[in-house]
Amino acid sequence: MLHRLLWLGLLCMGPALAAGPEPAAGEYLFRAAGCAGCHTDGDHAGAFLAGGRELMTPLGVFYSPNITPDKDTGIGRWQEADFLRALRHGRGPDGRHYYPSFPYAAYTRLSDADMRALWAYLKTVPPVRQANRPHELPWYLKYRSLLSAWKWLYFRPGPYLPNPVKDAAWNRGAYLAQAAAHCGECHTPRNRLGGFRIGLYLAGDKVGAEGGLVPNITPDKETGIGRWSRSELIDYLKTGMRPDGDFAGGLMAEVVDNGLKHLSQQDIEAIATYLQSVPPVMHAVRKPKPEKAQEEFEY
Ligand code: HEC
Ligand code: HEC
Repeated sequence: MLHRLLWLGLLCMGPALAAGPEPAAGEYLFRAAGCAGCHTDGDHAGAFLAGGRELMTPLGVFYSPNITPDKDTGIGRWQEADFLRALRHGRGPDGRHYYPSFPYAAYTRLSDADMRALWAYLKTVPPVRQANRPHELPWYLKYRSLLSAWKWLYFRPGPYLPNPVKDAAWNRGAYLAQAAAHCGECHTPRNRLGGFRIGLYLAGDKVGAEGGLVPNITPDKETGIGRWSRSELIDYLKTGMRPDGDFAGGLMAEVVDNGLKHLSQQDIEAIATYLQSVPPVMHAVRKPKPEKAQEEFEY
């Protein structure tokens, strides 16, 4: 009897299980994670997610690949497991290592469920036939096998582990900031090997992502955003408007317009809570002000 009841139960659960993750949940995450900005060549009216966007880095020029479901030029032949492996481990279906210009060092912190939702959403995007453009890198960086050394030094795969001492909102903010919205990928300075500089988490860089200045967003009062109130920070993340009335420019304008602007009030507040709790780091990256701040250590 019990047996039959169990079977019945399983049969009823069948359709729910088969339905799998919701593309809508994936789309929300896709925005938070900024996938479209890198995988769409917006400057040249490129098709959505068909790749070809130029990414200038100190190491060379990368061109993002086509991630539409086109079978020949995109990722239309991929299985869900291939996608999970790309995000979690930075490896392609054929085993090759990806360059960290694809921010998988952050995406590895996403939960399995969120990765599956992302995949469910990506499958709903119209396929576009567009061949990938090879990266323009110095010869010694063309060997992808070398990336295993980089990974050994700097990459720790695995999902975000909640901090039990903190509440749910803080953990949600940390998850969004670290895993999805990858704030540190731009705001934490790197050494010459492309690894994060220890002790400078979110402390900014004079010559950061794609060559521009990236400000210090730790709560340091002199060199970071320690003087911003919580509501100023929330407004900035939602609209891009700084407390002094200026608007976010460059890459941050993209982060806000394509991503943060679409998040719920609750999620934005969670990110602000997390951001105001990270250790303040005194690290001046902006030129004239503030006068007293210690200059960046030249390496
Ligand atoms: C900062 C720019 C950037 C962002 C943001 C970004 N990507 Fe990428 N992505 C790249 C680059 C560059 C590569 C190519 C890496 C290489 O050649 O090793 C890549 C590679 C990939 C690949 C492998 C494609 C293939 O043909 O092997 C997938 C899948 C992918 N990205 C999905 C995503 C998803 C999903 C997101 C959002 C969660 C995302 N990317 C966000 C830059 C980015
Ligand atoms: C793709 C790179 C990139 C990512 C990802 C990114 N930022 Fe930024 N951010 C920038 C740049 C560049 C600026 C400077 C914008 C400007 O010049 O107006 C900036 C500016 C800011 C500022 C304003 C600081 C000031 O002093 O003006 C805040 C706050 C901020 N970012 C928070 C975040 C948070 C929180 C995240 C993650 C949710 C994030 N950023 C993700 C590149 C990035």
